[in-house]
Amino acid sequence: MKIVLAYSGGLDTSVLVRWLKNHYDAEIVTFAADVGQEEELDGLEEKAIATGASKHYTLDLVEEFASDFIYPMMRANAIYEGQYYLGTSIARPLIAKAQIEIAEQEGCNAVAHGATGKGNDQVRFELTYAALAPELQIISPWRMQIFRDAFPGRTEMIDWCAANGVNVEASASKPYSMDRNLLHISYEAGILEDPWFDPTTPENKKMFKLSVDPQDAPNEPEYVELTYERGDCIAVNGEEMNPAQVLKTLNKLAGKHGIGRVDLVENRFVGMKSRGVYETPGGTILMQGHRQVESITMDRDLMHLRDSLVPKYAELVYYGFWYAPEREALQAFFDDSQKHVCGVARLKLYKGNVITVGRKSDLSLYDDKIASMEGVASDYNPDDASGFIRLQGLRLRARAIKQLSKMKL
Ligand code: ARG
Ligand code: SIN
Repeated sequence: MKIVLAYSGGLDTSVLVRWLKNHYDAEIVTFAADVGQEEELDGLEEKAIATGASKHYTLDLVEEFASDFIYPMMRANAIYEGQYYLGTSIARPLIAKAQIEIAEQEGCNAVAHGATGKGNDQVRFELTYAALAPELQIISPWRMQIFRDAFPGRTEMIDWCAANGVNVEASASKPYSMDRNLLHISYEAGILEDPWFDPTTPENKKMFKLSVDPQDAPNEPEYVELTYERGDCIAVNGEEMNPAQVLKTLNKLAGKHGIGRVDLVENRFVGMKSRGVYETPGGTILMQGHRQVESITMDRDLMHLRDSLVPKYAELVYYGFWYAPEREALQAFFDDSQKHVCGVARLKLYKGNVITVGRKSDLSLYDDKIASMEGVASDYNPDDASGFIRLQGLRLRARAIKQLSKMKL
């Protein structure tokens, strides 16, 4: 048997390398995806090999993550339950896809991941495996009783590593779980499980990595201009950049002004509620700028139809149905809706706020001659409004006369 394991080099996945090797008498290939987590990826290969892997891959997926995952999702204005920018959700299908490619290249017959048996990530990984490589065996050790019995906690893992000659730096574990990539950092579990626990107090706020506390942000606002082409941001302050550069630039800028922090309780796909704290600095201004350019370039009814589909699309991304026909069909619709979303948004960043101050476009549908209260407009005759309103109100009048007045009696 030959297994590719999604590997980070931390305690959990180090245990997994050796445990899988022993338990299945298998050859283990480890794989780490660089999706912009800015963690130490150097030295991973040596570590993996020393732990028992026969081969290791670290793949730089940052550009692909930005262009083929984050950007399409931004075109759809995806946001889950009105608050979550889906930073972890959108990375999982890419990581799983790359893992499968390695499995194929290496002739592996199984893929393994270290997600717990209670979360969304296990679903996202495995739905991607199902969609792209149905023939591969899936190993999810945290759902195996024998594995859970062996490792009820961190102490047992550290002891087991010592006993089995697995060299791990037993770094002090954080009192919460973190997931970082180019789009965001999520914090959950541990001390954050109490939904009343306040992570922003002076003693707790060192948790945040991508943004300053809005209170500590500069006293002077900063302006930024974002240029969009067919719904994609292609330039920041007039400087053209690729999607990954846009995100890096905006993360710095927004982070400096304390933008993009969200504290919420979300509904996991597997049923339970979960408290999460997120930092999505760049993504927050990217989406706000996008909305502004849409506001002048997009037809009303197209926008309303699109808006009605955003929760469905966001749910699909959150649940892990990236490689599903309904997500792909919706994506085609969202992409088509962006054909004329070209223009510039001007935003002011100030102490945690993104304040829109302007928008312009050569394709703007906004016509100040029509909208203006003054003067006679070309195609809009106020007299037409009388009949329009009368007909719109026809059924309301009928209801009032026939039903509501009788009910009052
Ligand atoms: N609750 C978020 C989501 O489901 C974040 C998950 C974080 N995952 C992690 N392994 N720390 O997308
Ligand atoms: C995990 O359970 O592995 C992380 C959290 C999640 O997947 O929702």
